[in-house]
Amino acid sequence: MTPEVSDPAIDGDARPGAPLDVRIARREDVATDIVALELVAPQGGELPPFEAGAHVDVVVEPGLMRQYSLCNDPRERHRYRLGVLRDPASRGGSEGVHRRFAEGQVIQIGRPRNNFPLATDDRPAVLLAGGIGITPLMAMAHALQARGTPFVLHQCARSADRVAFAAELAASAFAGSVRVHLDDGPPAQRFSLDEALADSNAHLYVCGPEGFIDFVTAGAAARGWPAERVHVEHFKAEVPQVGAAFTVVAARSGVTVEVPEGTSVAQALIAAGVDIPLSCEQGICGTCLVPVLQGTPDHRDEYQTDEEKAANTHMTPCCSRACSARLVLDA
Ligand code: FES
Repeated sequence: MTPEVSDPAIDGDARPGAPLDVRIARREDVATDIVALELVAPQGGELPPFEAGAHVDVVVEPGLMRQYSLCNDPRERHRYRLGVLRDPASRGGSEGVHRRFAEGQVIQIGRPRNNFPLATDDRPAVLLAGGIGITPLMAMAHALQARGTPFVLHQCARSADRVAFAAELAASAFAGSVRVHLDDGPPAQRFSLDEALADSNAHLYVCGPEGFIDFVTAGAAARGWPAERVHVEHFKAEVPQVGAAFTVVAARSGVTVEVPEGTSVAQALIAAGVDIPLSCEQGICGTCLVPVLQGTPDHRDEYQTDEEKAANTHMTPCCSRACSARLVLDA
């Protein structure tokens, strides 16, 4: 969801979907291979609001954008905080953040969007974080604490040095609701799905590596948790965007961008100020569907039927690329 905000404190274009300039006010190591970045408006003042579970696109370098969840208290308006794990398989995203981002630097981000919102009813919540999956769940913990909804936050990590934000969570107002589980710790503190999922009346929120999510969601289904109360955030930071570079023209916006390998059409257009509504960012929901005026898309979505794809009248810019050197979209 893109907030409708026009804030004079923010540098640059204030259209919804337009990128924001932010300054890295603080960079700190919060665990092995994990840095936290605090982002503020370059001249101070308020940033556009965000909800627990939201993420932002971060321009790591020209043509390379990655998504990171916001982990701070959503009631804070003066900063965004991110946690970024250095991924050994990184093709430039997290590695670029770790190598290049420094305090004082001004970077570009997208406005917060939320594909992982909290339910609005007052059922208790179980938050399950695998590794760096703690980031959106930290924001959720702040929000649940603020509204008085009971919750337990389970933080699973391989070892103590990989528990992100450990000191901060231990000092938080909701420290009594946090349980840390280490793969190499004593048996008594190990993560138990039976204990974590004991209350099937609750909402379950899961974020972490795919294997962790599969383990938890299969366990929830087996224990009778209804699917509508199991909420999942997949890491999408390193979704492969493999293929040759091409040019995209957003005809209505009068914008032309190059889409290099590693960047999606939607990321390139959003970075150039074109408003592309996004939701799943995996080619499933159809939120981003745009008419194609010229050129041939390389359809990579699950949303359109084979017949619709063959007609080449629409494409999903969140994941699809181009077979032709140039695409003209009605965007
Ligand atoms: Fe869901 Fe593109 S955002 S299909």
